[in-house]
Amino acid sequence: MFADRVLSGMRPTGNLHLGHYHGVLKNWVELQQQHECLFFVADWHALTTHYDSPEIIEKNVWDMVIDWLAAGVDPSQATLFIQSKVPSHAELYMLLSMMTPLGWLERVPTYKDQQEKLTEKDLSTHGFLGYPLLQSADILIYRANRVPVGEDQAPHIEFTREICRRFNHIYGKEIGFEEKAQAAIKKLGSKRSKLYNELRTRFQEQGDESALAQARSLLDEQQNLSMGDQERLFGYLEGGGKMILCEPDTLLTEASRMPGLDGQKMSKSYNNTISLREDADSVNKKIRTMPTDPARVRRSDPGDPAKCPVWQFHMVYSDDKTREWVQQGCKNAEIGCLDCKSPLIELIQAEQAPMHERARKYEEDPTLVRNIIADGCERANQLAEETMRDIREAMGLSYS
Ligand code: TRP
Ligand code: SF4
Repeated sequence: MFADRVLSGMRPTGNLHLGHYHGVLKNWVELQQQHECLFFVADWHALTTHYDSPEIIEKNVWDMVIDWLAAGVDPSQATLFIQSKVPSHAELYMLLSMMTPLGWLERVPTYKDQQEKLTEKDLSTHGFLGYPLLQSADILIYRANRVPVGEDQAPHIEFTREICRRFNHIYGKEIGFEEKAQAAIKKLGSKRSKLYNELRTRFQEQGDESALAQARSLLDEQQNLSMGDQERLFGYLEGGGKMILCEPDTLLTEASRMPGLDGQKMSKSYNNTISLREDADSVNKKIRTMPTDPARVRRSDPGDPAKCPVWQFHMVYSDDKTREWVQQGCKNAEIGCLDCKSPLIELIQAEQAPMHERARKYEEDPTLVRNIIADGCERANQLAEETMRDIREAMGLSYS
């Protein structure tokens, strides 16, 4: 019905590191090869928690885009843009707020969790409560059907689906919908209309998803049907009226296994990161000074990789042979910790070399980055406007 479209956003709250690379960006790079992709800087979302430190946001926006490009996100394949440069996200957010029950927002689990966690900030604001709704607007405005996010964001996508259904339910009803749908079925021709009706019944009475899929592809193939009729028949399949907005699916991103330098999860707040574009010397130094199994005081003391953060890195970077060598060498005190670390230093530097290479031209000439974003924003504005026209019309706002 609606074309396959992937959308995801990231808040510009700090330097990206290898955790972001392994957790998110590698996934984006893969997705951009298979689907139409939109990736954006969620600067308004950053303001919901950082409204008192705008300088952090401004600096991080451009650095973050360079990090994306360095990681291999390709502006010739994906559309890259900044949320605040597509103001209709705010228009949709406001329009959706009219029909969003307050209780739905208060019940989103991240709301209370984050308020309790970030105690140093006053987050009893309208903007923070509305965080998931702004995210819904981000998604629904592009009719994106796949949203790659980590587990922590899954409740926000679920919330978006509920908002979408509510919207379609309230505004998808046309006067005389049933009659118009019946008339459209007739236009399919007798064989196809019979099939359509059968498939619709099978889905509605038995919940048969394959019948739904089959009916949708039947509609996709119809060339002599007007857009309006086609949309009606898509909507009629599921019972209701027109589908104005598209329900997104969560593409759950596997949690990053990237450990930090101290063995905890890699995170800015633990101060244990290697940044995406960390220079080679600094990588060398950080790995060499990484803590190891505390029981291995001297080289002659045997160690246990299970108690060593360096081993976690081998789990991410090394092949079986190297891992075997570490296990043997550590437990029998045959290798020193610096020996153990040296293949890792090389592997991380090798992973980062192409990133430095890609980033260089953007670091030298920031207008290249500005231009990529300007192009992306233009395209995003166009796509958003297509949906906004239907939304304004549905909400009674398209008077001439
Ligand atoms: N809330 C997301 C995060 O913190 C960022 C985000 C904003 C987003 N809007 C989005 C992600 C829309 C996916 C789709 O990670
Ligand atoms: Fe850790 Fe490797 Fe040293 Fe063993 S040899 S303690 S795994 S750094």
